[in-house]
Parts: sequence; structure tokens; C-alpha cells
Amino acid sequence: MVNDPYAHCPRLPEEGQINLDELFSDPPVDQVSAPKGPIELEIGPGRGWFTIERLEAEPQVRVIGLEIRRKWATIVDERVKERGLGHRGRIFAEDARLTLPRFPENSLGRVYVHFPDPWWKKRHEKRLVLTSSLLDTLTRLLIPGGELFVQTDVAERGDQYQAVLDDHAAFEPVAGGPRIADHEFIARSPRERKAIEYELPIVRLLYRNKKS
Ligand SMILES: C[S@@+](CC[C@H](N)C(=O)[O-])C[C@H]1O[C@@H](n2cnc3c(N)ncnc32)[C@H](O)[C@@H]1O
Repeated sequence: MVNDPYAHCPRLPEEGQINLDELFSDPPVDQVSAPKGPIELEIGPGRGWFTIERLEAEPQVRVIGLEIRRKWATIVDERVKERGLGHRGRIFAEDARLTLPRFPENSLGRVYVHFPDPWWKKRHEKRLVLTSSLLDTLTRLLIPGGELFVQTDVAERGDQYQAVLDDHAAFEPVAGGPRIADHEFIARSPRERKAIEYELPIVRLLYRNKKS
């Protein structure tokens, strides 16, 4: 039998609506309670440094990451716990498109999608994450005024994401947006760091959920 090093990868409950508060570990003994309220979601964190840096920079923030690659979900979730951040951050080995419909309404304050969709062949289109169907789901999950941030260093993809977001009735650009020069999240994704290092132009899009 082949030994699967990621057989124990972190997974979400298999059925029913997911109670997000129950996903976090207990807070460390020197902290009476963990922060409550809307949670931030990262779709496809990959090697995970955005989530870790964000948790370290903002003690009031909780972040859930959904990463389809079991290896990276396992490694990053362990890293988060080793740094004493498991009461505010978790990464799960899940396909965001399949699991987000089971997240509760108005549970997310912000959603990050950094450099998604690294597929270019027509036959891989079914793998695309940022589609109008995902936006329909996010509309329900985001609180009123909740934000969706998307960035890419592929110009055509930036145009495509902007078009799908501009067409969606539930989202509106933030003031001065949707294209913003930089963000204020005090964290960088691994791909973002590389793009900055190589001076690649980055399209950064920031929208709000119009729901009232
Ligand atoms: C190009 S990588 C970018 C990684 C990271 N966001 C960054 O900026 O460095 C895209 C990531 O999205 C993940 N991914 C792709 N489809 C996904 C899905 N349906 N659900 C969750 N993660 C997904 C991939 O496994 C990969 O880690």
C-alpha cells in the first residue's frame, strides 16, 4: 500500500452547514477569548504566507483558507498552529467551489483571491475559480459592505475578472476603484512577492458587497 503523507490533511465537516466558530482551536491559556465576528477567507492560499502574515499583523482578525492541494493545506495549517495562531487561523484541504455553499450567510468580512487560475488551456476552463457562480455564493456569505479583493499579474485575466465583477449586480467598486495601486492588508502572498521582485505589473481589484 502506498504511504500517503497527507492522509491526515485538515478537512471540513463532510455534510451540512459549517459552523465557522467551531473550526478554530481553543485560544492559548493567556488569552481569555478569541476574537468573534466576521471572518476573512483566502481562496487558494498556496504556500500560505499571506494568511500567516495577516494573522500576525492583525490580532483581531480570523482567517480561513481553502486550498485544494492537500500538501500545502497540511503544511500551512501546521505552520499556523506552530505559531500559536490556530485559534484565529485555519487552512483546509478543500475545493472552495464545492464547500463555500455550505458556509453560513453573512459570515465573511472580506474574501481574498490572490493570483488564481494558473490554467490557460480551453479544456482546463472548468477549473476556473473566479466565475459568476462563485460570485453568487460570495454575495450570500459576505456581510453588507464586505469586500472582495482579487489580484493577478496576467493582464487579460485582470480584464476578465473585472468584467465578471462589473457585470455582477451584487458588487460595486470601492471609492477610487475597482483598480487600486496597492492594498493595505499588511501581508503579501508568495506570488505577489515574486511579482513585486520581478517588477511585473499587478492588477489589483477591490469591490464591496452592495447588499443592505
Ligand atoms: C497560482 S496559485 C497562487 C497561490 C497563492 N494565492 C499566491 O498568490 O501565492 C493558485 C492556488 O489556488 C489553488 N486552487 C486552485 N483551485 C482551487 C479551488 N477550487 N479551491 C481552492 N484552492 C484552489 C491552487 O492549488 C493554488 O495553490
